[in-house]
Amino acid sequence: MKDTALRIAGFKDSIFGVISRLARENNAVNLGQGFPDFDGPEWLKDIAYKKMQEGHNQYAPFHGTPSCRQEVSNYYKKFYNLNYNQESEVTITVGATEAIYLVITALINPGDEVVVLEPFYDSYVASIKMAGGIPKPVTMHAPDFTIDQKELEAAITSQTKLLILNNPHNPTGKVWSKEELQIVANVAIKNDLYVLSDEVYEFLVFDGVRHIPTATLEGMFERTITISSAGKTFGLTGWKIGWICANQKVTNACRLVHQYVTFAVSTPMQEAVAEGLKKLPDYLPGFVSLYKGKRDYFYEEMKKLGFEFAIPKGTYFMMVPIKKHTDLKDVDYAMKLIREKQVATVPPSAFYLKSTEGENFLRFCFAKKEETLQGAIKNLHR
Ligand SMILES: Cc1ncc(COP(=O)(O)O)c(C=O)c1O
Repeated sequence: MKDTALRIAGFKDSIFGVISRLARENNAVNLGQGFPDFDGPEWLKDIAYKKMQEGHNQYAPFHGTPSCRQEVSNYYKKFYNLNYNQESEVTITVGATEAIYLVITALINPGDEVVVLEPFYDSYVASIKMAGGIPKPVTMHAPDFTIDQKELEAAITSQTKLLILNNPHNPTGKVWSKEELQIVANVAIKNDLYVLSDEVYEFLVFDGVRHIPTATLEGMFERTITISSAGKTFGLTGWKIGWICANQKVTNACRLVHQYVTFAVSTPMQEAVAEGLKKLPDYLPGFVSLYKGKRDYFYEEMKKLGFEFAIPKGTYFMMVPIKKHTDLKDVDYAMKLIREKQVATVPPSAFYLKSTEGENFLRFCFAKKEETLQGAIKNLHR
């Protein structure tokens, strides 16, 4: 048989598949998988069911149902004072993952360079490679996961077209400050770059910290492509409703790809998400306090186990330094924890292309039921 396409050459099953299999074989508590092990809100599931009963079951308009696009546009206005025209600047996608693929496919030619800040969400680099682009990693340095402006500037060449930023940040739990975002904005403006701002954890911020969308920085609205996902905001990752907010030119380009990749997104789920977005002001305080409780519990317990690190201000991840506990690198230590303590985590070195800093950490996901977190802590004490 003839070979498969070159664009996927070098892709292999990720470390996460190996970890998940080992976790199952060893009956480990799984804090590796980056999603809740409990359901999202009943009221929203009821709305989705009602939308199906009301007959919202055929293909949606390909760029999203009017109500879903309208409510996305409304919340950007309400929360951030950003104006996106729902007709020409908002596109509904199959989760943020499709959004990432569309943006990169729509913008990147073979040979174009894309700056990715590492540790990165793994689909960025895969999408860049499928488009024939070249990922250019810039490291967010531990312990605060800050970027160095000089290193960022050094990564830019005449071939650089796009920079990808994730805020609040998976896997570190970092929420970017205005000053840090300004470094990215300055470099993007100076070099005429697009910025893909992945803000799927925009509402998961704690301790009074404010999430600042990249598009709100001066001079950044036109060049920023903002993506987000109802899966994270409502704790319903399986619904896979995401969106892209971008200027008309980029929106048109993304829609051209979207029409041939997925064509349209689940109609009843979009209709339900539209209702959910309307209720954000009532819903968010309970949502944030639920996850804050989990973060606080897990952080305190990890401290008792001797792990020392700053409490993350956003997302449902903790990037935990392991060097005090082992001489092993992250992958081997993750395997050891599964086999000897029955706790599964993610070794973050898979999220780096350049730096080896990821070898000194494990990523724990605390979006888990109380008993799951308690079980993990009990096992770690064994
Ligand atoms: C940073 C980041 N971006 C994008 C996604 C994908 O989101 P979705 O499930 O909506 O495709 C995730 C999911 O874990 C993520 O952590």
